[in-house]
Amino acid sequence: MVASISKKFAQMLPKAELHVHIEGTLEPELKLKLAKRNHIDIGQKNIEEVKKSYQYNDLASFLAVYYPAMEVLQTEEDFYDLAMDYLKRAVKNNVRHVEIFFDPQAHTSRGISFETVINGLYKATVDARALNIDAQLIMCFLRDFSRESARKTLEEALPYKDKFIGVGLDSDEHNNPPMKFFNQFTEAAANGLHLTAHADIDQKDSIEHIRELLEVIGVERVDHGTNIVEDPDLVDYAAHHNIGFTSCPLSNSFVSPEMKGKEVIELLSKGVKVSIHSDDPAYFGGYIGNNYYAIADKFNLSEEQVVTLAKNSFETSWISKEQKDIYIKELESFVQNYDRNSK
Ligand code: ADE
Ligand code: ZN
Repeated sequence: MVASISKKFAQMLPKAELHVHIEGTLEPELKLKLAKRNHIDIGQKNIEEVKKSYQYNDLASFLAVYYPAMEVLQTEEDFYDLAMDYLKRAVKNNVRHVEIFFDPQAHTSRGISFETVINGLYKATVDARALNIDAQLIMCFLRDFSRESARKTLEEALPYKDKFIGVGLDSDEHNNPPMKFFNQFTEAAANGLHLTAHADIDQKDSIEHIRELLEVIGVERVDHGTNIVEDPDLVDYAAHHNIGFTSCPLSNSFVSPEMKGKEVIELLSKGVKVSIHSDDPAYFGGYIGNNYYAIADKFNLSEEQVVTLAKNSFETSWISKEQKDIYIKELESFVQNYDRNSK
């Protein structure tokens, strides 16, 4: 069966990227370049060797490869280069607005200051305006670190709160429920920050975690979170409250054969604002355009479904109503004028 959209359509569709970990955009080329610049022996000498080390089939085995690689990120310039490299790729995928996750504890825990991390990343978001992309940052807590570490991280981050727009929650979910960080979410919200959190797919307590996020903590989005289809009451709640669900087909396909495509289709049919994103594109085989194409191709999504996914990405982004309207008009005009004969 021929897919209803082409790879080019998927790439050029105007979209918002709401689920990308900046550390997950560290391409083998940049990893090797930074290792050399910082005189760090990462144990691999070329791209093939780096790629060979990418062996994982669940969240924990992925994270065991992912965190050690961050050792090459040492200076403000390194964080700037990482973010700039990503933003250039995002522009090629016609990402108009991006909200980028970063994990300060993955760096402060190895002696890199919070200031180094945020200043490098933030400077790239400012310079990226010249590329005609609007970029913002979301600070994530590592859920497998202690509450006390999260408390200290938020305390350290708040003086920089004009440099990021929200907080998130990521890393190993096993036995690390959202409620562990209730105080940090509450304090972040009281400081005017937006809230999102991962509910990774097929976790031990997926539904309970999603329930805590929606009904107790009050997040605006859930990252992944497609297990919600197992609880129709929660699906109703999410639809009524316009909660965003940021699904990442290519990363899902490493841990689940069906990339959660059926769940995405079900959520779309129930009016839930689900959208498509790239998670850790340097590790899972593709940036956002590839993620749109992968799910559209495997599940034969209609062009209308694909366009709704892109529209949902703008609608659940943390920008003003006026700015959302501008991007959605741009999306509609793209769809109207796209030359389908050009593929
Ligand atoms: N950190 C980076 N990628 C992640 C993912 N998919 N889930 C949880 N934490 C992450
Ligand atoms: Zn993620």
